[in-house]
Amino acid sequence: MNGSREKISRREFIGGAAATATGAMILNAGAARGPAVNSTLRLGILGCGGRGIAVGTGFVDNTNTRVVALADLFADQLEAGRKHFDERQQAKGYAAIDTSQLFRGPEAYKQIAASNEVDFILITTPPYFHPQHLETAVKAGKHVYCEKPVAVDVPGAKQVARIGEEAEGKLSLEVGFQIRKAPPYVELVKRIHGGALGKIGCGLGYYFCGHIDRPEWPNASPDEKRLRNWVWDRALSGDIVVEQNIHIIDVANWILQGHPDYAVGSGGRKLRADLGDCWDNFNLVFTYPDHVQVGFGSTQFDTPAFDAGTLFFGAKGSSEAHYDHRVSIAGAESWDAGLGPAQGSVQFSVAGKFKGSLDQADVEKQKSFVESITSGQFHNQAAQGVESALSAMLGRMAAYSGRLVTWDELMKSEEVYDPHIDISKFA
Ligand SMILES: NC(=O)c1ccc[n+]([C@@H]2O[C@H](COP(=O)([O-])OP(=O)(O)OC[C@H]3O[C@@H](n4cnc5c(N)ncnc54)[C@H](O)[C@@H]3O)[C@@H](O)[C@H]2O)c1
Repeated sequence: MNGSREKISRREFIGGAAATATGAMILNAGAARGPAVNSTLRLGILGCGGRGIAVGTGFVDNTNTRVVALADLFADQLEAGRKHFDERQQAKGYAAIDTSQLFRGPEAYKQIAASNEVDFILITTPPYFHPQHLETAVKAGKHVYCEKPVAVDVPGAKQVARIGEEAEGKLSLEVGFQIRKAPPYVELVKRIHGGALGKIGCGLGYYFCGHIDRPEWPNASPDEKRLRNWVWDRALSGDIVVEQNIHIIDVANWILQGHPDYAVGSGGRKLRADLGDCWDNFNLVFTYPDHVQVGFGSTQFDTPAFDAGTLFFGAKGSSEAHYDHRVSIAGAESWDAGLGPAQGSVQFSVAGKFKGSLDQADVEKQKSFVESITSGQFHNQAAQGVESALSAMLGRMAAYSGRLVTWDELMKSEEVYDPHIDISKFA
């Protein structure tokens, strides 16, 4: 994983963006549209896969947004995106996406960032590319909605933290933790922060999920297969704890209002048989400030089981919050969001389409992001996105190493996740 090629390319990239000794980026000031915007926002989608289509469609359906540009490494993905949005937007009376705004190949991320037709960019490429794609979009002065995780390694997370500092007050930078906008979760966390559990003693989080199936791509080269099936690949995804389980770790950080001090853990690859190298289970214990310990378990192998949630236990009560059903507090200040029984299936987590407690999460997230742009009250979720990515990396490092890892040790990590894929050959 420790690759010099990627180290160089990242350094070169930062150098290219930074004309100053401090590494500060020169932002294309004025490119981002602010409070003056009250017309339809123009969206460019970078990464036309499952999540790009789902969130892009949500923006079109739920907000005054029109998809005007698309970018992808692969022609078939780009074409599927074009077809989808042209059909979808026809119903709204919009013209087809202009062919000059369809960008394909390894330079597509630069081209869509440079487009004058675009107000904001949705980054839904594989996680390994997020720091580079985010930096390019922000440098071009575009508002950005970047999917989680913001990075797969600590140097990448620090890069995103710097990008966030540079974007502050100039544009909206949203990170894809939609659970933080789900009304049942918002109410639950408000009550917990208001003292409904009393002093919190400990907690439990878990993400039990089946295997994420992908097409075989039998005629693709080995590198193309990895890119197409990045979700199986440690260097491209960050492994399941950073790529997928991060949602639950983010909820724990939200409830406990901080990040873990240290973690221990283990896990492995026991039952999954795909071509990748991601583990299929993690068992971790995170210790938060004041010695609040949060156990965490996850699976991602061929099993019909699905449940993702958190439980917290305090002096006055306990809380329970799942993705697809029960969100409640028991004890002196009991409360129940009134959701029905479990409806779990692995498909929920693949496209981020959930039934139950998260029904409104994406809608609320999309509306509030657009509102942040049109009102000029810009969001900047870089620091929070970085904190949750680093928390997940802490658990990963503890499990991979088999020993206790502190936050301070994690922050010194210079390990670079490098897929060793030369993507210029996909030009
Ligand atoms: N918030 C959620 O609930 C949620 C749910 C699903 C996925 N996600 C996140 O969304 C992101 C995308 O996931 P997905 O499931 O849509 O993956 P996907 O594989 O379906 O889509 C990724 C797309 O990016 C393209 N791509 C790959 N490398 C590229 C590059 N260098 N430049 C341009 N395009 C490139 C691929 O061709 C593909 O079309 C990931 O970060 C994932 O973690 C979030």
